[in-house]
Amino acid sequence: MPDPHAHDALSNTDLLARKNEEALLGGGQARIDAQHKKGKLTARERLDLLLDEGSFEEIGKFVMHRARDFGLDKEHYLGDGVVTGYGTVNGRLVYVFSQDFTVFGGSLSETHAEKIVKIMDLAMKNGAPVIGLNDSGGARIQEGVVSLGGYADIFYKNTLASGVVPQLSAIMGPCAGGAVYSPAITDFILMVEDTSYMFVTGPNVVKTVTHETVTSEELGGASTHSTKSGVTHFTAANEVVCIQQLKQLLSYMPQNCEETAPAVAYTAQGDESRPVLDAIIPDNANQPYDIREVIEGLVDSDSFMEVHKNFAENIVVGFARLAGRSLGIVGNQPAVLAGVLDINASTKAARFVRFCDAFNIPLLVLEDVPGFLPGTDQEWRGIITNGAKLLYAFCEATVPRITVITRKAYGGAYDVMNSKHIGADLNFAWPTAEIAVMGAKGAAEIIFKREIAAADDPAAKLQEKVADYQEKFATPYRAAHRGFVDEVILPSQTRQKLIRAFKMLENKVDTLPRKKHGNIPL
Ligand code: HXC
Repeated sequence: MPDPHAHDALSNTDLLARKNEEALLGGGQARIDAQHKKGKLTARERLDLLLDEGSFEEIGKFVMHRARDFGLDKEHYLGDGVVTGYGTVNGRLVYVFSQDFTVFGGSLSETHAEKIVKIMDLAMKNGAPVIGLNDSGGARIQEGVVSLGGYADIFYKNTLASGVVPQLSAIMGPCAGGAVYSPAITDFILMVEDTSYMFVTGPNVVKTVTHETVTSEELGGASTHSTKSGVTHFTAANEVVCIQQLKQLLSYMPQNCEETAPAVAYTAQGDESRPVLDAIIPDNANQPYDIREVIEGLVDSDSFMEVHKNFAENIVVGFARLAGRSLGIVGNQPAVLAGVLDINASTKAARFVRFCDAFNIPLLVLEDVPGFLPGTDQEWRGIITNGAKLLYAFCEATVPRITVITRKAYGGAYDVMNSKHIGADLNFAWPTAEIAVMGAKGAAEIIFKREIAAADDPAAKLQEKVADYQEKFATPYRAAHRGFVDEVILPSQTRQKLIRAFKMLENKVDTLPRKKHGNIPL
């Protein structure tokens, strides 16, 4: 490694050229080759894929660490293990940092942290997203506490930037120890299958403390975090796909909380009716159907990007476009656990609703929910507190909000799922909607218990009472008579209605009472 402080007798131009070349090599060709051998790209190759060609402007290319201990006084690399700067993605400004595993394993030193903090400050002042490409062995062990301080500086900035500019984290290698908390505070996490992992304590510590034997992949790989923990919102088969996902995700978002997401050009083709939607809801109310079919039928073709696809599948959330405009969608999924709300579904949807609200993305809710999931497991793990998160998130959301009740809207879940009572702007229902305290059978069994027991033929009596309850409440009309439902519409008409309604709500202004901040039940 050439001495980075040596200036030889080079001309100014040659010296600069040499430093530039050196910086591009990171930890050296051998380590770049090792990175490639693992099926991983380098920090700079990743940025090349992410940013528009020729748009990257690097900041802090020649920064070096200031540490002296454990041989670090003799080992310096220009850039110090992270490439930072700004550029554009599809013409829109973004700030980026990309950790360079070839330099001390991408570990975070004091100066490495300062570089990240610097671009976060710029992002906040100039109102543009921050994208972090993480590939790091964690705190630079040789630096001790100053490295920990560097992490804390980043966490602090992540928190200050939360809700100001979108923050996206792609995990493209190790991300362990307290380092996981920076991505965790950001808005979205993407992980690459087989080459990335996240955990607070690794397999060795786990073995010592809990005597469990577990691999890194099992403990914190992409598949674990996309299905079991919900830590990651997206997984990708490789880094190229992961970067494509980052770009697509960005396309639904505004640059910052003061702006709205960019619209894509849209020309209506015909009358916008979608007859295919009329055939989705089964005749039997207990039969499942896939809410994704409804979503695909309603939104602009191929515009739906599902978030948290494999986690809490009883609720579907994601971004889409309607007549070219960004939309956040939350839909109960009758095909999984009948679309019931449980702890994971509530927290998944609540976080998504809050992101959309923070960044002015209107919300469409598709409701078919039999209620909250009963049972000791849910109660003891706090369905009360966790279900309240979703309720709270909808209540405080001030973006345009529309609900379409496709079928069941039962019990507390009717209130929670963006009802008019908690601030939805419009509530549509399909003719198949059932809006009631509970299903007809359960209701009849409770309120007519004595009458049924006393009847000559209790089964027939129950049938009669179920039919009676069904006729009164298993329809959208009671709610429509009260104005809780604004209009009962055919599925095929829904896209047209939504386009008009969201257009009507385009300039909505709504504010919350003045406060320091609310206290969402955590
Ligand atoms: C300094 C590090 C380093 C670190 C790796 N390297 N991690 N240098 N600080 N934290 C260096 C290695 O010495 C090696 O240098 C190069 O990076 C590549 O590492 P390898 O071990 O050869 O690579 P690999 O086999 O792929 O293993 C990667 C790894 C492993 C799993 C990340 O290096 C590892 O376990 N590192 C330590 C992880 C760790 O315990 N970090 C601290 C976590 S606690 P050469 O010169 O050979 O290329 C933490 C607290 C944060 O981060 C708290 C915030 C609140």
